[in-house]
Amino acid sequence: MTYRSPSPLPEKDREQIAAALNARLADGLDLHSQIKVAHWNVKGPQFAALHPLFETFAVGLAVNNDSIAERAVTLGAQVRGSVRYVARASSLPEYPVDASRDLVHVRLLAERFEQYVAGLRGTRDVAAELGDEDTVDLLTAAVREFEKHAWFLRATLAE
Ligand SMILES: [Fe+2]
Repeated sequence: MTYRSPSPLPEKDREQIAAALNARLADGLDLHSQIKVAHWNVKGPQFAALHPLFETFAVGLAVNNDSIAERAVTLGAQVRGSVRYVARASSLPEYPVDASRDLVHVRLLAERFEQYVAGLRGTRDVAAELGDEDTVDLLTAAVREFEKHAWFLRATLAE
């Protein structure tokens, strides 16, 4: 069921796009919490560079999560995003509790950013298929931003 929306797209299309956006919101909220865990627990020679870098990632992702949630609501959906809901709905793997060394965190986050971006691409395909250029535009900007973050992390690993 969807609410009244300013979008001219048919209701069933809005529902499908919003469901995909809700899935990306769950992933994004999960990833945000994992980045904060890395920001807090990172140790090693790269601490001084990585502690603030991870915070920059978290801030960027928080803004993006808000945009994704608000796009879903604009399309007439109800968004889900409580910690308990996200724990069930996220498609990302849990963050290892014993991660400590700097480059271990870098690798764990690189893998998760890449998985998150793959999800964004899949959701963008859904929106493109249904002719929602505005959601495509939102997701393209997000893909660009988080691919860049994945590159920062891979470059830190010299990969
Ligand atoms: Fe902090």
